[in-house]
Amino acid sequence: MTETITATAAGTWQLGDRTVNRLGYGAMRLMPMKPGNGPAERERAIAVLRRAVELGVNHIDTAAFYAVGPYASNELINSALGNPYPEDLVITTKVGPGLDPVSGKITEYGPEYLRSQVEQNLRELGRDHLDVVNLRIGDGLDRGAGSLADRFGVLAELREQGMIRHLGISNVGPDHLREAQAIAPVVCVQNQYGLTARREDDDFVKLCAAEDIAFVPFFAIASGGEHPAVTEIAAAHGVSAAQVRLAWTLHQGPNVLAIPGTGNPDHVEENIAAAGLRLSEEEVARLDSIR
Ligand SMILES: NC(=O)c1ccc[n+]([C@@H]2O[C@H](COP(=O)([O-])OP(=O)(O)OC[C@H]3O[C@@H](n4cnc5c(N)ncnc54)[C@H](OP(=O)(O)O)[C@@H]3O)[C@@H](O)[C@H]2O)c1
Repeated sequence: MTETITATAAGTWQLGDRTVNRLGYGAMRLMPMKPGNGPAERERAIAVLRRAVELGVNHIDTAAFYAVGPYASNELINSALGNPYPEDLVITTKVGPGLDPVSGKITEYGPEYLRSQVEQNLRELGRDHLDVVNLRIGDGLDRGAGSLADRFGVLAELREQGMIRHLGISNVGPDHLREAQAIAPVVCVQNQYGLTARREDDDFVKLCAAEDIAFVPFFAIASGGEHPAVTEIAAAHGVSAAQVRLAWTLHQGPNVLAIPGTGNPDHVEENIAAAGLRLSEEEVARLDSIR
């Protein structure tokens, strides 16, 4: 019988004083993002979360605005994993954007809303403090522009008050990192980044590594279509293209944490198994050449 590969195979990283396996899970693709879903899909989402943790995932990314109708990622995480949560589980959430109560669309909110967004996450997740909170800036996928100091300053105060343990920033550039670090310590940067997406951040990944800051890419699987190099390397290892993309992502540095998102029980197992996939230097060089 072949041994099940767990998230521990990816090695660990320190998010401040919390240790996480570098292969984590992103909750955006749980069923809440799909209107029309019902109780059966809710049970499936709960099973996906429990399986991820069973297979060693101890870093989950979420947001209060990952919600459609009565279904929301935070509530699912709380129901699936809370009461009590595993002690080693680190839940990272993000604030800044929120659901407009009238249009239901994701809207960027100003500094005066951040405390209530943090309180909402605390309530929904059933925590007395949040492990990691990212300030997410910018509209849609366009990289955030302008100062984040006012908003990050509010989160720094909430951290001082014990509501938040560690802070991160999302959808940002190196200038934002410098601006934030002048206010409070930053443990992670969460940006869109992948084999065929936003490779202009290659240097930013290294800059973060040099300062012991985690770089946590989103869309590591979903960015870009298929490419022959990916499918051929996948076939050579007997794995999927998604697993090759995840292995390449983890290869970018010891500070890179993967948070693949899925609502599919088979995909969650497959993605976690990518923690054990080692690409050769030749394969990495070939993949790098397609950027
Ligand atoms: N900070 C930000 O602004 C921001 C923005 C977006 C996302 N995020 C976070 O980053 C996480 C990752 O991003 P993501 O979930 O959008 O993208 P992703 O992990 O790159 O890919 C998810 C997509 O790929 C599919 N997929 C997953 N595993 C697969 C597999 N093994 N084989 C084939 N297809 C697979 C999923 O569909 P199935 O459900 O069918 O598997 C889903 O459509 C999110 O969950 C969220 O927590 C942050």
